[in-house]
Amino acid sequence: MDDLRIDGQRLRERFDAFNEIGATEAGGVDRPALSDANREARDRLLDWFEEAGLSVTVDEMGNIFGRRDGNRECLPPVLFGSHVDSQYNGGRFDGVVGVLGALEVVESLNDAGRRTDRPLEIVSWTNEEGVRFQPDLLGSGVFAGKFDTEFAHSREDQAGKTVEEELERIGYKGDRPCEPRDIHRYFELHVEQGPYLDDRDLSVAAVEGVFGFSWLEVTFEGKADHAGPTPMDSRQDALVGASDVVAAVRRLTATGGDDLVGTVGSVDVWPDSINVIPEVVEFTVDLRSADDAVVDAAVERVRDEIEWAATREGLDYDCEELMRVDAATFDDDCVGTVLAAMREAGYEETQLTSGAGHDASYLNDVCPTAMIFVPSVDGVSHRESEFTEWEDVVAGVDVLGRAVVKSATV
Ligand code: GLV
Ligand code: MN
Ligand code: MN
Repeated sequence: MDDLRIDGQRLRERFDAFNEIGATEAGGVDRPALSDANREARDRLLDWFEEAGLSVTVDEMGNIFGRRDGNRECLPPVLFGSHVDSQYNGGRFDGVVGVLGALEVVESLNDAGRRTDRPLEIVSWTNEEGVRFQPDLLGSGVFAGKFDTEFAHSREDQAGKTVEEELERIGYKGDRPCEPRDIHRYFELHVEQGPYLDDRDLSVAAVEGVFGFSWLEVTFEGKADHAGPTPMDSRQDALVGASDVVAAVRRLTATGGDDLVGTVGSVDVWPDSINVIPEVVEFTVDLRSADDAVVDAAVERVRDEIEWAATREGLDYDCEELMRVDAATFDDDCVGTVLAAMREAGYEETQLTSGAGHDASYLNDVCPTAMIFVPSVDGVSHRESEFTEWEDVVAGVDVLGRAVVKSATV
């Protein structure tokens, strides 16, 4: 691997130029899936993929693939990449490091005039974040056969626009069917999004698996009324019910299992007025653990809490599971390849499990899969201040390159 030299400067220039697209004043990016900014980012990627000599295809979910021929074209490719959709007002590193890092691996192979045995494919998945369209991991989910294309195309954003309409509008509803195919291995480089590596001053880690998670959407319906004359004992306040559940989710994380985490991240109140008792509240619950049984038990407990809160306050309620992803345990050989690459590059061998969701969870059911993490300063992510030291990004790309080349060698 002496002849593969990652060019940190070139990568950084690309990273900065890319993140001018949809840049926010506070230093983040706003490029939710299938938005105009997401289209611009996709267009830029396509240009760069073509300049790097990759043959580009787009599938009917808008997943973008850039293929580099191998010496043995009949063999299944090594696939590597991540996503370039962002949270609303999200960070610059989440997903982007994995896609532009993959491109840098290809560029450095081009520089070295080196062709791998197996073909290589870079991928940029559609709607990883799941903030505009639910569920998340939508492009990789269809690719892995978890959802069918019709279901994915019919997902609507808050304005009632569907994934299919938006793919057509931005020109990224491709012809290639989105379905499982023969892939040799999948690797995804990503920022950790938690504090483990930063706390320990480590530059890079092999990821051995990803937490399972459940997303619930809950609606409470009570009765709107005047905030002054309505006696306290005759109220049906939907926000009081929701608040009870918020507190219960926090309490549950103390007893529901060591690694259980729970979040109520989105709340909509109607009519949302200072002097009107809330009639309808819609909110989400996100529950995660490395143990699927812990997630299942937590979902049941939260459902009970919802029922009790509704009974106490005299509310109607509805609770729908928007998303359930099982915990993933990555392939030992693939994780071993990443660890060997870390050793070869002179990094301490470190392994951890991801609390954040990743397309790699679904790819794990298609082919042997592993991930590489680089630190997030102060563990911060899904915020504009998300940051990773550049030398750590380069370390991650170096390890990715080594793991990919090793896997593409027969
Ligand atoms: C995706 O970023 C998730 O972990 O929810
Ligand atoms: Mn991500
Ligand atoms: Mn994310």
